[in-house]
Amino acid sequence: MTERQPAVHAEPAVRTLFTAQQIASRVREMGLEVARDMAGTRPLFVAVLKGACMFQCDLARATPLEVELDFLSVSSYGSGTTSTGHVRLIMDLRGPIAGRHVVLCEGVVDSGLSVSFILDLLRSRGAASLRVATLLDKVPCRKIQVPIDYAGWKIGPDFVVGYGLDADERYRNLPFVGILEEV
Ligand code: IMP
Ligand code: MG
Repeated sequence: MTERQPAVHAEPAVRTLFTAQQIASRVREMGLEVARDMAGTRPLFVAVLKGACMFQCDLARATPLEVELDFLSVSSYGSGTTSTGHVRLIMDLRGPIAGRHVVLCEGVVDSGLSVSFILDLLRSRGAASLRVATLLDKVPCRKIQVPIDYAGWKIGPDFVVGYGLDADERYRNLPFVGILEEV
């Protein structure tokens, strides 16, 4: 009989912060708010991949307007959980945005460096208007001030995962958002 080996790596625990139901209901409210503010326009929802993919799609479904989707990706974190502070565009939008009413969709705003970089980029391309929607806003972590028009919840500095958000590419498909607790 083989003896059971002790685990080499203990798995971190994920403590639920917002359930799938809470997220669905908050995102529905946000969609109605966006629709009210942007009535008469055909907004372009730009997701910051990969973290905002679920939020963007749910927000678009909750917004009773004709919404278009586009995507971009920036890199600033590598595989760690703290920012390197250096933001790079690693995947660009498919289409032009001149004259468009854009809603930048983020999963979580932390230092603000990514959103600030992306807003500068989109502004330079002549968007007619720019709004920022984020599911989570880590207010205490801000290094640069960015305008947030729609925030699902303001949260503390803990590292969160789920509903698109990852830790080294894990946990994105959790239907809820939780705090990653090192064990
Ligand atoms: P910022 O540039 O510091 O605001 O970071 C924003 C980006 O960092 C987000 O798009 C996320 O990809 C990532 N990020 C920041 N905080 C977290 C977190 O708690 N969990 C997962 N990803 C995070
Ligand atoms: Mg990440």
